[in-house]
Amino acid sequence: MSDFINEINRRRTFAIISHPDAGKTTLTEKLLLYGGAIALAGSVKGKKTDRHAVSDWMEIEKQRGISVTSSVMQFEYDGYCINILDTPGHQDFSEDTYRTLMAVDSAVMVIDAAKGVENQTRKLFKVCVMRHIPIFTFINKLDRDAKNPFDLLAEIEDELGISTYPMNFPIGSGVDFKGVYDRGSKHILSYERGDGQHEIEAIEADISDPSLDSLIGERNRLQLMEDVELLDGAGDSLDMNEVSSGRLSPVFFGSALNNFGVEPFLKGFLEMGPSPLPRECEDGIIEPTDSAFSAFVFKIQANMNKAHRDRLTFMRICSGKFERDMEVYHVQGDKKMRLSQPQQMMAENREIIEEAYAGDIIGVFDPGIFSIGDTVCSPGKSIRFEGIPTFAPEHFARIRHKDTMKRKQFVKGATQIAQEGAIQIFREPDTGMEEVIVGVVGMLQFDVFEHRMRTEYNVEIINEGLPYQYIRWIDNEGIDPKKLNLSSDTKIVQDFKNNYLLLFTSEWNIRWALEKNEGLLLSEFNRN
Ligand code: G4P
Repeated sequence: MSDFINEINRRRTFAIISHPDAGKTTLTEKLLLYGGAIALAGSVKGKKTDRHAVSDWMEIEKQRGISVTSSVMQFEYDGYCINILDTPGHQDFSEDTYRTLMAVDSAVMVIDAAKGVENQTRKLFKVCVMRHIPIFTFINKLDRDAKNPFDLLAEIEDELGISTYPMNFPIGSGVDFKGVYDRGSKHILSYERGDGQHEIEAIEADISDPSLDSLIGERNRLQLMEDVELLDGAGDSLDMNEVSSGRLSPVFFGSALNNFGVEPFLKGFLEMGPSPLPRECEDGIIEPTDSAFSAFVFKIQANMNKAHRDRLTFMRICSGKFERDMEVYHVQGDKKMRLSQPQQMMAENREIIEEAYAGDIIGVFDPGIFSIGDTVCSPGKSIRFEGIPTFAPEHFARIRHKDTMKRKQFVKGATQIAQEGAIQIFREPDTGMEEVIVGVVGMLQFDVFEHRMRTEYNVEIINEGLPYQYIRWIDNEGIDPKKLNLSSDTKIVQDFKNNYLLLFTSEWNIRWALEKNEGLLLSEFNRN
């Protein structure tokens, strides 16, 4: 196999999703530990120590204990090159999660064994399903009292509508947690409360052998025999076609905090998880092994590091090989260019890269030319990948700056944050940027906006909540919206390309507008 093909085949690019507190950060950290990407796993979020989990770098994340943006990390393990994309756990940032999922080939879902499928898991999972990518499940915190493992599997199947295949099975939980039984090797991995820094050796054992009693206790052994009989009797098989299409999820049990079951999970995932997948573009399918380079922008982030004052654009490479200083063609801008200081991220640390392959994520400095969904490719090609849809905002507020002297910073901050796709901004017709109407998908995005305006742009803002919940673009050309017959609580606004939109307080008002104005065309997404 050529080095080029081998480089692509050994890549695994995946996102981690979970309800906040299920243990996503802890698991990520342990995975990084295996890859030698970090030297010591820190106690998450530093409640008990000063070490912060490496993927939790934004101040607001530390304050609130949630991940609000996705970070990207790469490490090597057992000959594989792994790209992990962290996703915001909170549903208010599900749009960010969706964009991140566009950039990966599989997802890992972390579930708290005591809580089962939680609200946010359900929502994030829906986003995963839209992409039809393989989903691997890690059921975490078995060292605490947990729900019955069969009930947990049934809950995943019923609530998420996906089949499950347990790769291993827990023996007890909480103070009685004795380890896991690996169904493939029929080995027992016995649990000892460790220091969380290394994995424990597996013990080869026949579960019908009473000598196991000294290790896991007779009651647990008999229970395990019964459980295994039930599992094997169910006769489900690990159908890799079902896994690949996202209909069957291989499930692993463990405890991320105690680093128990993490390495078997990692190994199983690497073996079964897909290498970079082909992507659809307007002219057909792009194979990762195509020699021409192509990549698309899925994330833009300004001021990641305050000391740098920069704007980074993240691209997922879909085909070919990227080399530093090579010339690329920016399709939407119709310009040839060199990507400036291409880098790979490890939370706050950046490393300039010399080369990267399909599956990799690169960050490049961006003076403001890229938008989400843009494509770059080898000159002479013109590849456009299927677009990344924007979610329609559901919450709106009128935003002004407190200090009139800060107008310039206000405009800059609002515009840049909107370009990142973190908020959408509108204005009332024929007004300037003195005040804007900001639309968000989740309320917490307002908090992040306010926080970032204060800390990154030094602007205090006034946020006046508005009652609107629905947004519609007017698709009719040349229509004068002021002449429309609208209910008194419907608002006309413009986006920054001067398209007209309507903000509604209820679906009833949308129907009213359509009924009273014949021929009016409204759409939930901006088609321009
Ligand atoms: P998240 O990124 O999904 O939000 O979760 P995170 O890893 O931050 O974990 C949330 C809490 O759960 C952390 O506790 C973490 O130590 C704990 N945790 C993670 N994995 C395990 C596990 O396998 N077993 C146990 N017992 N706990 C685990 P914390 O924020 O430090 O404090 P607290 O919530 O315990 O007070």
